[in-house]
Amino acid sequence: MKELIKKVVETFGVSGSEGNIRKVLEEEIRPYVDEVRTDVLGNLICHKKPTTGGAGAAGAAAHAPKVMLAAHMDQIGLMVTHIDDNGFLRFGNVGGVSPLTLLMNRMVFQNGTVGVVGMEKIDDPKDLRLDKLFLDIGATDRASAEKKVQIGDTCTFATAMVDLGDRLVSRAMDDRVACAILVEAAKNLKATENDVYFVFTVQEEVGLRGARTAAFGVDPDLGIAVDVTRTGDTPKTITMECGLGKGAAIKVKDAAIMVHPAVRAFLVDTAKAGGIKYQMEVLEQGGTDAGAIHLTKAGVPSGVISIPTRYLHSPSEMVDLGDVRACVDLIVKALEKKVPF
Ligand code: CO
Ligand code: ZN
Repeated sequence: MKELIKKVVETFGVSGSEGNIRKVLEEEIRPYVDEVRTDVLGNLICHKKPTTGGAGAAGAAAHAPKVMLAAHMDQIGLMVTHIDDNGFLRFGNVGGVSPLTLLMNRMVFQNGTVGVVGMEKIDDPKDLRLDKLFLDIGATDRASAEKKVQIGDTCTFATAMVDLGDRLVSRAMDDRVACAILVEAAKNLKATENDVYFVFTVQEEVGLRGARTAAFGVDPDLGIAVDVTRTGDTPKTITMECGLGKGAAIKVKDAAIMVHPAVRAFLVDTAKAGGIKYQMEVLEQGGTDAGAIHLTKAGVPSGVISIPTRYLHSPSEMVDLGDVRACVDLIVKALEKKVPF
């Protein structure tokens, strides 16, 4: 899976500009699903029909529960708001970007233009805010800057993936590692009694927007978001149960959802029955696509499978391959038999 993860984390796709990553994911998942479509907002909806269920595939389809799995394909970044006479760019955030992660870092635009994040003279580190920073793309004046970058263009961290063995470090593990997990799950799911939709959503980082229209369109009986979560396993960090290498995380709650108790129990039982390593997750801040999915129409029983990730929303997000594989196994096991929803 390392190669697939590397490919998807290194493909550009800041929220609102998901075209490149959508194309890559479509090529990767197409061999393992029956139909692929893109909705109005740009969500990639990949449908795998039930393969078994007693009365043949047609009979199975009539009774098969619809399961929507969602992984967001957008990534955080910056958007250019102003270019000054000397060719320096000012920017705003797209999603949760801290000035601490930007300082003196390299950022890359969709067209390959690279810039360095510089800082005005600041006496007190507390004054470090996005509006004290600028991007230097090596331009000498406004006209030469505009040859490379326009107002409204977005960029993201210019870092490549690093393979540490059992652990991988990269930008955009949030949430491309989950995109890779869905592709791998689709590949490993040889037979299913469910009507399965693997959905790669847009604009999660700016407010779970793609998941809202995707869930309305799919109208699932069960929704499962797959996304990264924080950990409490580094020196003097937040107090939290989740840690790297402790397995797939099954969410109890975050700021956007109280996971449906039946969905949580279903995932825990599936992990236990399959001998899959898992841990429980209570996340005090942040949310995932499940926050939007569970509020669709009259409500959708929804849950979340999370990948514990260190240094979230930075150029160096770290995941454990054992956890990643546990997430794949949990999804495949959960989808083989008819889900109780
Ligand atoms: Co995120
Ligand atoms: Zn995410």
